[in-house]
Amino acid sequence: MYVCLCVGVTDGQIRDAIYEGCCSYKEVRAATNVGTQCGKCACLAKEVVRDTLAELHVSQQAALPYPVEFTTA
Ligand code: FES
Repeated sequence: MYVCLCVGVTDGQIRDAIYEGCCSYKEVRAATNVGTQCGKCACLAKEVVRDTLAELHVSQQAALPYPVEFTTA
């Protein structure tokens, strides 16, 4: 599905950018140019980034033999 019509970026390209190492919307934008023209796609692009990072976080936790918890110091 096309997320950004101005630049022609799909949700798959956004996911690929994350799988290749991008960790934030800012990094995905730099890698794909999504949202760099009219900006109307930014909200949806951020949602795809957020969902993909959440999926990766869950799958990484599932790969560990023990649950990981983070605490603030
Ligand atoms: S639709 Fe993405 S910048 Fe215009």
